[in-house]
Amino acid sequence: MNYYRGRMIAGSLALALVATLMTVNGMVSAPKVKAADAESPSLKPELWKGLVTDDSLKLMLSSQTDLIDKTLKSAGTFRRALKKMEVAGRIVAVLGNVEVLRGSDEAAKKGAALRAAGLDLTKAAEAKNFEDATKAAEAIKSYPDKIAPAADAKPTVWTDLLDIDGLMTGVATADTEVKKPIAATKPADFKKLSKEAEPYALLLAVLGAAARDYESDKNWQKWCDDMKNESVGLAKAFNGKNEDEAKTARDSLLKSCKACHDAYRVEE
Ligand code: HEC
Repeated sequence: MNYYRGRMIAGSLALALVATLMTVNGMVSAPKVKAADAESPSLKPELWKGLVTDDSLKLMLSSQTDLIDKTLKSAGTFRRALKKMEVAGRIVAVLGNVEVLRGSDEAAKKGAALRAAGLDLTKAAEAKNFEDATKAAEAIKSYPDKIAPAADAKPTVWTDLLDIDGLMTGVATADTEVKKPIAATKPADFKKLSKEAEPYALLLAVLGAAARDYESDKNWQKWCDDMKNESVGLAKAFNGKNEDEAKTARDSLLKSCKACHDAYRVEE
């Protein structure tokens, strides 16, 4: 099992200093503290407006609603894919929060409702509750036109929305999908698979931007920025059906995964 020993702390210089020293010594074990506040770059609407468009949001969301639909065909198919649904719910919650950050008024309130529906799906999957999962899925699919807006549209601090383990399971899922076209042996397969992989590359960029808040350490934040930028490049390569570019982009992407894991991920 992997666990994460590096949770901390923006906002307190002293703690950040201690954290840095501990990181250097490779023995980070600070308690989980809310890292971000409203000043965090990961909560700035401009960041999200630059990173996500209406079209890319639609693409990311429909990759999840397709999966959710397939999985919720019956109680049996649901029971066999509980973990997948937990992750899909988290991804939807992340996308909802992105919409809160990108939108204003009504759009943000609908984003908040999408976020809540994603969390409901994850909860229902954890509780193995097919009926609740189906309800949550209905709400997710009614976004954006028919979903009932939430009462308020405050962004959720990323570290409150999900823990780093939850975020990384989303990353792992997305990475599994972006691997597929890269592994294709025929150009025709690359083309077909890169269409399916593009939303997941976009999602990796979103998750990289969100992950920034989980540590105040500069290295951590740089690796998150790298992950975000390289995922944007990967999504572009998939979009342009450019196999060489996609390979190069994924190689650089993997370097940022590895750099951070070498420093922060503890294998047990
Ligand atoms: C900024 C740091 C950072 C970056 C960048 C990063 N990771 Fe992680 N990753 C972590 C940490 C920390 C954990 C341990 C989380 C835990 O289990 O609590 C982890 C855990 C994981 C796990 C195990 C998940 C699980 O369920 O326990 C996988 C798989 C993973 N990362 C894949 C990736 C991939 C693929 C990338 C690049 C696309 C990536 N990570 C980028 C920090 C990072």
